[in-house]
Amino acid sequence: MPSYAVIGGSRGIGLEFVRQLSSNPENTVFVTVRNRNSSTYLAELVAQSGHQNIHVLEADVVDHRALKAAAEEVVKATGGSLDVLINNAARTEAHNAFKGLLDYEDEDASDAEFLESFKINVLGFVHSVNTFLPLLRKGSAKKIVLIGSQGGERDFVWEARMPNMTAYSTTKAAAHMVMAKYAVLLEKEGFVVTSLCPGIVDVTTTASSECGSFTLAHIRGRIELIANAVLLDKQIWKKEVEAQQADFRKAVPDFKFEPQSPEGSVTTLLRTIAALDSSECGKFLSHGEQVAAQNQGKS
Ligand SMILES: NC(=O)c1ccc[n+]([C@@H]2O[C@H](COP(=O)([O-])OP(=O)(O)OC[C@H]3O[C@@H](n4cnc5c(N)ncnc54)[C@H](OP(=O)(O)O)[C@@H]3O)[C@@H](O)[C@H]2O)c1
Repeated sequence: MPSYAVIGGSRGIGLEFVRQLSSNPENTVFVTVRNRNSSTYLAELVAQSGHQNIHVLEADVVDHRALKAAAEEVVKATGGSLDVLINNAARTEAHNAFKGLLDYEDEDASDAEFLESFKINVLGFVHSVNTFLPLLRKGSAKKIVLIGSQGGERDFVWEARMPNMTAYSTTKAAAHMVMAKYAVLLEKEGFVVTSLCPGIVDVTTTASSECGSFTLAHIRGRIELIANAVLLDKQIWKKEVEAQQADFRKAVPDFKFEPQSPEGSVTTLLRTIAALDSSECGKFLSHGEQVAAQNQGKS
Protein backbone atom coordinates (compact mmCIF):
# COMPACT_ATOMS: atom_id res chain seq x y z
CA MET A 1 0.00 0.00 0.00
CA PRO A 2 2.24 2.87 -1.14
CA SER A 3 1.30 6.11 0.57
CA TYR A 4 1.61 9.57 -0.95
CA ALA A 5 1.14 13.05 0.48
CA VAL A 6 0.31 15.77 -2.04
CA ILE A 7 0.87 19.13 -0.42
CA GLY A 8 -1.51 21.58 -2.07
CA GLY A 9 -3.95 19.48 -4.08
CA SER A 10 -7.16 21.50 -4.28
CA ARG A 11 -6.78 22.30 -7.96
CA GLY A 12 -4.46 22.35 -10.95
CA ILE A 13 -1.51 19.95 -11.05
CA GLY A 14 -1.92 18.92 -7.40
CA LEU A 15 -5.51 17.89 -7.99
CA GLU A 16 -4.46 15.82 -10.99
CA PHE A 17 -1.82 14.07 -8.86
CA VAL A 18 -4.59 13.10 -6.46
CA ARG A 19 -6.82 11.93 -9.31
CA GLN A 20 -4.20 9.72 -10.93
CA LEU A 21 -2.74 8.34 -7.71
CA SER A 22 -6.12 7.54 -6.21
CA SER A 23 -7.23 5.70 -9.35
CA ASN A 24 -5.00 2.86 -8.15
CA PRO A 25 -6.75 1.21 -5.19
CA GLU A 26 -3.34 0.05 -3.91
CA ASN A 27 -2.38 3.64 -3.15
CA THR A 28 -3.29 5.68 -0.11
CA VAL A 29 -3.36 9.37 -0.96
CA PHE A 30 -3.19 12.18 1.58
CA VAL A 31 -3.86 15.63 0.21
CA THR A 32 -3.58 18.92 2.02
CA VAL A 33 -5.75 21.90 1.16
CA ARG A 34 -6.02 25.32 2.70
CA ASN A 35 -9.75 25.26 2.87
CA ARG A 36 -11.77 22.09 2.59
CA ASN A 37 -15.04 23.92 1.89
CA SER A 38 -13.71 25.91 -1.02
CA SER A 39 -11.84 22.93 -2.51
CA THR A 40 -14.80 22.03 -4.67
CA TYR A 41 -12.93 20.24 -7.47
CA LEU A 42 -11.31 17.95 -4.93
CA ALA A 43 -14.62 17.35 -3.15
CA GLU A 44 -16.08 16.28 -6.49
CA LEU A 45 -13.17 13.90 -7.08
CA VAL A 46 -13.50 12.37 -3.62
CA ALA A 47 -17.25 11.89 -4.16
CA GLN A 48 -16.67 10.18 -7.50
CA SER A 49 -13.78 8.01 -6.37
CA GLY A 50 -14.78 4.42 -5.89
CA HIS A 51 -11.78 3.48 -3.76
CA GLN A 52 -12.10 5.57 -0.61
CA ASN A 53 -8.33 6.01 -0.60
CA ILE A 54 -8.21 9.83 -0.54
CA HIS A 55 -7.71 11.53 2.82
CA VAL A 56 -8.25 15.29 2.74
CA LEU A 57 -6.38 17.25 5.40
CA GLU A 58 -6.55 20.97 6.04
CA ALA A 59 -3.28 22.89 6.29
CA ASP A 60 -1.82 26.09 4.94
CA VAL A 61 1.88 25.45 4.30
CA VAL A 62 2.69 28.75 5.96
CA ASP A 63 1.28 27.32 9.20
CA HIS A 64 3.66 24.62 10.40
CA ARG A 65 1.37 23.77 13.33
CA ALA A 66 -1.46 22.98 10.96
CA LEU A 67 0.89 20.78 8.95
CA LYS A 68 1.89 18.95 12.15
CA ALA A 69 -1.78 18.29 12.88
CA ALA A 70 -2.19 16.96 9.33
CA ALA A 71 0.81 14.67 9.81
CA GLU A 72 -0.77 13.29 12.97
CA GLU A 73 -3.77 12.26 10.87
CA VAL A 74 -1.43 10.48 8.47
CA VAL A 75 0.19 8.67 11.40
CA LYS A 76 -3.24 7.49 12.55
CA ALA A 77 -4.03 6.13 9.08
CA THR A 78 -0.70 4.50 8.23
CA GLY A 79 0.71 3.62 11.63
CA GLY A 80 3.47 6.22 11.30
CA SER A 81 4.94 5.97 7.82
CA LEU A 82 4.71 7.80 4.52
CA ASP A 83 6.36 6.75 1.27
CA VAL A 84 6.37 9.76 -1.04
CA LEU A 85 6.01 13.48 -0.37
CA ILE A 86 5.04 15.70 -3.30
CA ASN A 87 5.31 19.38 -2.48
CA ASN A 88 3.15 21.07 -5.07
CA ALA A 89 1.76 24.15 -3.30
CA ALA A 90 2.89 27.49 -4.64
CA ARG A 91 1.77 31.07 -4.86
CA THR A 92 0.67 31.42 -8.48
CA GLU A 93 -1.48 34.53 -8.46
CA ALA A 94 -1.87 35.75 -12.01
CA HIS A 95 -1.63 39.44 -11.28
CA ASN A 96 1.92 38.87 -10.11
CA ALA A 97 2.88 36.84 -13.14
CA PHE A 98 3.32 40.05 -15.11
CA LYS A 99 5.22 42.03 -12.60
CA GLY A 100 8.87 42.85 -13.19
CA LEU A 101 11.04 44.43 -10.53
CA LEU A 102 10.00 47.93 -11.54
CA ASP A 103 6.29 47.24 -11.99
CA TYR A 104 5.05 47.33 -8.42
CA GLU A 105 3.06 50.33 -7.24
CA ASP A 106 5.61 50.97 -4.53
CA GLU A 107 8.28 49.27 -2.41
CA ASP A 108 5.74 48.16 0.17
CA ALA A 109 3.74 46.27 -2.46
CA SER A 110 6.91 44.70 -3.84
CA ASP A 111 8.13 43.69 -0.36
CA ALA A 112 4.74 42.21 0.48
CA GLU A 113 4.65 40.04 -2.67
CA PHE A 114 8.21 38.80 -2.25
CA LEU A 115 7.68 37.97 1.43
CA GLU A 116 4.38 36.20 0.87
CA SER A 117 5.83 34.21 -2.03
CA PHE A 118 8.85 33.28 0.09
CA LYS A 119 6.64 32.10 2.93
CA ILE A 120 4.61 29.81 0.67
CA ASN A 121 7.13 28.69 -1.96
CA VAL A 122 10.19 28.31 0.24
CA LEU A 123 9.29 28.08 3.92
CA GLY A 124 6.19 26.10 3.02
CA PHE A 125 8.43 23.46 1.45
CA VAL A 126 10.71 23.49 4.51
CA HIS A 127 7.69 23.07 6.81
CA SER A 128 6.35 20.21 4.70
CA VAL A 129 9.60 18.29 4.66
CA ASN A 130 10.40 18.87 8.34
CA THR A 131 6.89 17.84 9.35
CA PHE A 132 6.70 14.67 7.30
CA LEU A 133 10.33 13.60 7.57
CA PRO A 134 9.85 11.32 10.60
CA LEU A 135 7.11 9.51 8.67
CA LEU A 136 9.12 9.37 5.45
CA ARG A 137 12.02 7.83 7.36
CA LYS A 138 9.71 4.95 8.24
CA GLY A 139 8.44 4.64 4.68
CA SER A 140 9.78 2.29 2.07
CA ALA A 141 10.24 4.67 -0.90
CA LYS A 142 11.96 7.65 0.76
CA LYS A 143 11.15 10.07 -2.05
CA ILE A 144 10.70 13.82 -1.64
CA VAL A 145 9.64 15.73 -4.73
CA LEU A 146 9.45 19.47 -5.09
CA ILE A 147 7.35 20.61 -8.02
CA GLY A 148 9.81 23.12 -9.37
CA SER A 149 9.80 25.50 -12.28
CA GLN A 150 12.11 26.53 -15.06
CA GLY A 151 11.01 30.02 -14.16
CA GLY A 152 13.20 29.50 -11.10
CA GLU A 153 16.27 28.48 -13.10
CA ARG A 154 18.74 31.34 -13.64
CA ASP A 155 20.02 30.18 -17.05
CA PHE A 156 16.53 29.80 -18.36
CA VAL A 157 15.36 33.21 -17.17
CA TRP A 158 18.35 34.84 -18.83
CA GLU A 159 18.13 32.92 -22.09
CA ALA A 160 14.39 33.44 -22.39
CA ARG A 161 14.82 37.12 -21.46
CA MET A 162 12.03 36.77 -18.94
CA PRO A 163 11.78 39.99 -16.91
CA ASN A 164 8.53 39.30 -15.13
CA MET A 165 7.27 36.74 -12.61
CA THR A 166 9.92 38.14 -10.32
CA ALA A 167 8.67 37.09 -6.89
CA TYR A 168 7.61 33.70 -8.24
CA SER A 169 10.89 33.01 -10.08
CA THR A 170 13.04 34.24 -7.22
CA THR A 171 11.30 32.12 -4.63
CA LYS A 172 11.14 29.07 -6.90
CA ALA A 173 14.93 29.42 -7.32
CA ALA A 174 15.24 29.51 -3.55
CA ALA A 175 13.03 26.43 -3.26
CA HIS A 176 15.33 24.60 -5.70
CA MET A 177 18.19 25.45 -3.36
CA VAL A 178 16.25 24.13 -0.37
CA MET A 179 15.69 20.91 -2.32
CA ALA A 180 19.45 20.64 -2.88
CA LYS A 181 20.14 21.17 0.83
CA TYR A 182 17.71 18.41 1.80
CA ALA A 183 19.24 16.18 -0.86
CA VAL A 184 22.68 16.63 0.68
CA LEU A 185 21.33 16.02 4.17
CA LEU A 186 19.23 12.98 3.39
CA GLU A 187 21.07 11.21 0.59
CA LYS A 188 23.02 9.05 3.03
CA GLU A 189 19.75 7.84 4.55
CA GLY A 190 18.71 6.48 1.16
CA PHE A 191 16.40 9.36 0.26
CA VAL A 192 15.94 10.69 -3.25
CA VAL A 193 15.13 14.39 -3.04
CA THR A 194 14.53 16.05 -6.37
CA SER A 195 12.82 18.91 -8.13
CA LEU A 196 10.64 18.16 -11.13
CA CYS A 197 9.29 20.73 -13.55
CA PRO A 198 5.81 19.89 -14.82
CA GLY A 199 6.34 21.76 -18.10
CA ILE A 200 3.78 24.24 -19.29
CA VAL A 201 0.44 23.17 -18.01
CA ASP A 202 -2.91 24.75 -18.63
CA VAL A 203 -4.59 24.64 -15.25
CA THR A 204 -7.34 27.08 -16.07
CA THR A 205 -10.13 24.50 -15.96
CA THR A 206 -9.71 24.18 -12.20
CA ALA A 207 -8.50 27.72 -11.52
CA SER A 208 -9.71 29.47 -8.46
CA SER A 209 -12.20 32.13 -9.46
CA GLU A 210 -10.56 34.56 -7.04
CA CYS A 211 -7.11 34.66 -8.52
CA GLY A 212 -7.07 32.73 -11.76
CA SER A 213 -3.92 30.88 -12.73
CA PHE A 214 -1.19 31.46 -15.16
CA THR A 215 0.18 28.98 -17.56
CA LEU A 216 3.54 28.95 -19.23
CA ALA A 217 4.59 27.83 -22.67
CA HIS A 218 7.42 25.49 -23.33
CA ILE A 219 9.87 25.32 -26.16
CA ARG A 220 12.90 23.23 -26.76
CA GLY A 221 16.57 24.10 -26.88
CA ARG A 222 18.51 26.49 -24.71
CA ILE A 223 15.63 28.90 -24.65
CA GLU A 224 13.13 26.52 -23.24
CA LEU A 225 10.45 28.38 -21.50
CA ILE A 226 8.20 31.07 -22.64
CA ALA A 227 6.63 33.05 -19.94
CA ASN A 228 3.07 33.42 -20.79
CA ALA A 229 0.14 34.39 -18.81
CA VAL A 230 -3.35 33.44 -19.62
CA LEU A 231 -5.98 34.67 -17.32
CA LEU A 232 -8.96 33.43 -19.13
CA ASP A 233 -11.62 34.85 -16.93
CA LYS A 234 -10.03 38.26 -16.54
CA GLN A 235 -9.57 39.90 -19.90
CA ILE A 236 -7.80 42.87 -18.32
CA TRP A 237 -4.49 41.10 -18.86
CA LYS A 238 -5.15 40.26 -22.49
CA LYS A 239 -2.95 43.10 -23.81
CA GLU A 240 -0.01 42.14 -21.63
CA VAL A 241 -0.35 38.47 -22.60
CA GLU A 242 -0.40 39.30 -26.29
CA ALA A 243 2.57 41.65 -25.99
CA GLN A 244 4.52 39.00 -24.14
CA GLN A 245 3.70 36.33 -26.67
CA ALA A 246 4.78 38.66 -29.49
CA ASP A 247 8.13 39.27 -27.76
CA PHE A 248 8.78 35.59 -27.38
CA ARG A 249 7.77 34.86 -30.94
CA LYS A 250 10.38 37.38 -32.05
CA ALA A 251 13.03 35.61 -29.97
CA VAL A 252 11.90 32.16 -30.97
CA PRO A 253 10.21 32.28 -34.38
CA ASP A 254 9.06 28.67 -34.37
CA PHE A 255 7.45 29.04 -30.99
CA LYS A 256 4.14 27.30 -30.58
CA PHE A 257 2.03 27.93 -27.55
CA GLU A 258 1.07 24.40 -26.66
CA PRO A 259 0.45 24.02 -22.97
CA GLN A 260 -0.11 20.50 -21.81
CA SER A 261 -3.12 19.21 -20.00
CA PRO A 262 -2.70 18.49 -16.27
CA GLU A 263 -3.35 14.85 -17.16
CA GLY A 264 -0.44 14.63 -19.61
CA SER A 265 1.95 16.50 -17.36
CA VAL A 266 1.16 14.46 -14.26
CA THR A 267 1.40 11.19 -16.19
CA THR A 268 4.97 12.15 -17.07
CA LEU A 269 5.72 13.32 -13.52
CA LEU A 270 4.41 10.12 -11.94
CA ARG A 271 6.43 7.97 -14.31
CA THR A 272 9.49 9.99 -13.35
CA ILE A 273 8.72 9.69 -9.64
CA ALA A 274 8.25 5.94 -9.92
CA ALA A 275 11.65 5.60 -11.60
CA LEU A 276 13.62 8.05 -9.42
CA ASP A 277 16.81 6.58 -8.05
CA SER A 278 19.88 7.83 -6.22
CA SER A 279 21.41 9.19 -9.43
CA GLU A 280 18.67 11.85 -9.50
CA CYS A 281 19.08 12.96 -5.90
CA GLY A 282 19.65 16.74 -5.74
CA LYS A 283 18.75 17.31 -9.39
CA PHE A 284 16.29 19.60 -11.13
CA LEU A 285 14.69 17.77 -14.05
CA SER A 286 12.93 19.83 -16.68
CA HIS A 287 9.84 18.46 -18.34
CA GLY A 288 11.86 17.94 -21.55
CA GLU A 289 14.48 15.91 -19.72
CA GLN A 290 11.81 13.73 -18.15
CA VAL A 291 10.11 13.10 -21.50
CA ALA A 292 13.46 12.33 -23.15
CA ALA A 293 14.34 9.83 -20.40
CA GLN A 294 10.95 8.17 -20.81
CA ASN A 295 11.29 8.04 -24.59
CA GLN A 296 14.63 6.32 -24.16
CA GLY A 297 12.96 3.77 -21.93
CA LYS A 298 14.78 4.93 -18.79
CA SER A 299 11.54 5.30 -16.86
N1 LIG B 1 1.05 25.36 -14.44
C1 LIG B 1 2.28 25.48 -14.95
O1 LIG B 1 2.47 25.73 -16.15
C2 LIG B 1 3.47 25.30 -14.06
C3 LIG B 1 4.75 25.41 -14.66
C4 LIG B 1 5.88 25.22 -13.86
C5 LIG B 1 5.73 24.91 -12.53
N2 LIG B 1 4.47 24.84 -11.96
C6 LIG B 1 4.41 24.49 -10.54
O2 LIG B 1 3.42 23.49 -10.37
C7 LIG B 1 2.83 23.60 -9.07
C8 LIG B 1 1.32 23.64 -9.20
O3 LIG B 1 0.99 24.75 -10.01
P1 LIG B 1 -0.45 24.88 -10.69
O4 LIG B 1 -0.21 25.48 -12.03
O5 LIG B 1 -1.22 23.63 -10.56
O6 LIG B 1 -1.07 26.03 -9.76
P2 LIG B 1 -2.57 26.29 -9.22
O7 LIG B 1 -3.58 25.66 -10.10
O8 LIG B 1 -2.64 27.76 -9.01
O9 LIG B 1 -2.57 25.53 -7.82
C9 LIG B 1 -1.79 25.97 -6.76
C10 LIG B 1 -2.03 25.06 -5.59
O10 LIG B 1 -1.21 25.51 -4.48
C11 LIG B 1 -2.05 25.64 -3.34
N3 LIG B 1 -1.57 26.68 -2.43
C12 LIG B 1 -1.32 27.97 -2.70
N4 LIG B 1 -0.92 28.59 -1.58
C13 LIG B 1 -0.92 27.67 -0.59
C14 LIG B 1 -0.62 27.70 0.79
N5 LIG B 1 -0.23 28.83 1.40
N6 LIG B 1 -0.75 26.55 1.51
C15 LIG B 1 -1.15 25.42 0.91
N7 LIG B 1 -1.46 25.32 -0.40
C16 LIG B 1 -1.35 26.44 -1.13
C17 LIG B 1 -3.41 26.04 -3.92
O11 LIG B 1 -4.41 25.82 -2.93
P3 LIG B 1 -5.69 26.81 -2.75
O12 LIG B 1 -6.75 26.27 -3.62
O13 LIG B 1 -5.99 26.72 -1.31
O14 LIG B 1 -5.24 28.19 -3.16
C18 LIG B 1 -3.48 25.11 -5.12
O15 LIG B 1 -3.90 23.82 -4.73
C19 LIG B 1 3.43 24.86 -8.45
O16 LIG B 1 4.48 24.49 -7.58
C20 LIG B 1 3.97 25.63 -9.64
O17 LIG B 1 5.06 26.44 -9.27
C21 LIG B 1 3.35 25.03 -12.70
